[in-house]
Amino acid sequence: MRNNRKIMIAGNWKEHFTVAEASHFLHKLEESVINHQSIEVVLFPNILTLQPLSVQLDRRKFRLGSQDGFYEDAGAYTGEVSMAMLRELVHYVLVGHSERRHIFNENDDVVAKKMQAAVRNGIMPVLCVGETLQERLAGETKQVLHNQITAGLMNLTSREVGAIVVAYEPVWAIGTGEFAKPDQVEEVVKYIRKQVAELFGERTAKLVRILYGGSVDEHNAISYLLLEDCDGALVGGASLNQYKFASIVESAFRVQQRRTVRV
Ligand code: 13P
Repeated sequence: MRNNRKIMIAGNWKEHFTVAEASHFLHKLEESVINHQSIEVVLFPNILTLQPLSVQLDRRKFRLGSQDGFYEDAGAYTGEVSMAMLRELVHYVLVGHSERRHIFNENDDVVAKKMQAAVRNGIMPVLCVGETLQERLAGETKQVLHNQITAGLMNLTSREVGAIVVAYEPVWAIGTGEFAKPDQVEEVVKYIRKQVAELFGERTAKLVRILYGGSVDEHNAISYLLLEDCDGALVGGASLNQYKFASIVESAFRVQQRRTVRV
C-alpha cells in the first residue's frame, strides 16, 4: 500500500526559457495540462522567471519550485539567492541535483546545509541522489546512495524527513535518452525507503515520497509510476514540451485512479 502518498510530476526546466519564453510556455501548459486534484504538478523554472510566473500561474494546477537556493539566509554571498528569499515564491526546491554536484562541485556538506536551510524556511526540499555510470559498473550504486542519503538528511528530524521528497536520478540516465529499466528503479527506490526506515523509522519511511528522474518521457513514464515505491517523476527534457508533459500528468492520473479503486 502506498500510504496515501500523493503522486508528484515535476518539470525541471533547467537553464531554458527567458522570462518572455517561460510566460508563453506556461500559457501553453495551462491549456494542455488538465487539472487533477489528486496529482501534484510542480514546475521548476530558472530563478529569474519564478517571480513573474508566480503571478501568472494557475495555482489550482501547478506549484512552483526553485532549481537551487543558497543555505545562508542573507549576507555577503555575491550571486546567491537564499531559501529565505525564495520562500515567498516556491513550495519546493531541488537540492543536490547531479548537475550541481558534478558541474558546480557541490559536495555532501553543501547539500546537507541546503537541506537544512530549506526546511528552516518552510520550503520542501527535493533531495536528488544517483550514481554515475562508473559507480554502477563498479557495483557501488547502493554505497553511493547510502552516502548521499545519510549526508543529505543528516541535520533533519524524522518529522521533517517525512515531509521531504527524494528523487532518484541515475547520472547515466539524465539527458541521455538512456532511461533506467523499471526493475532497476524499483530496486533502488526500495533501497532508499529502507535507508530512510533505518535512519528515521518505518513511519517516516512510509511518508517520504520518492521520485524517479532520467530520460522520463510520455512513453516510459507509466512504467515507473506503476511501481509501488515510486511516487512520481522528475522530468527534464520532456517537460519542455507541453504535449509530452501533459501526457505524463495523464499517466499519473490514470495510475492514481487505479490505486484509489484498489484501496
Ligand atoms: P532528463 O529528463 O532530460 O533526462 O533530465 C532529468 C533531470 O535531470 C531532471 O531533474
